Amino acid sequence: MKFIIINGPNLNLLGKREPEIYGSASFEAYFKILQKKYTPHQLDYFQSNIEGELIDKLQEVGFSYDGIIFNAAAYTHTSVGLGDAVKAISTPVVEVHISNVHAREAFRHHSFIAPNAKGVIAGFGLKSYDLAIESFL
Ligand code: DQA
Repeated sequence: MKFIIINGPNLNLLGKREPEIYGSASFEAYFKILQKKYTPHQLDYFQSNIEGELIDKLQEVGFSYDGIIFNAAAYTHTSVGLGDAVKAISTPVVEVHISNVHAREAFRHHSFIAPNAKGVIAGFGLKSYDLAIESFL
């Protein structure tokens, strides 16, 4: 099967960014572990800080991949455009968060992605991505 992890803004700084919340491991290293674990499935990765690039990627993969693991980061809470893109595509999307957004500030409790996602996984650190892939198998 073919899966892609799509990460939104500031997630390129994982390992350096607020390690007390997001951990001290870089995503690239963890992604290699996941790729190995899920062989022979295809696992791709895309990160962007730009909302339109995330929409372009969802449209590009959203009719041919078997699953999208999507951490829209801060855009989760603000982006009607990303919510509409998730609704527009046929590939199922699992929304992922490293932190438990419901235990944080109120503005993180709302998601424009969740209403059109297959499910939501939050609060398990980088393992949230692993659980999301598992959910497709
Ligand atoms: C996040 C949670 C968001 O609220 C935040 O803006 C992020 C990361 C997470 O993975 O926990 O950038 O999506």
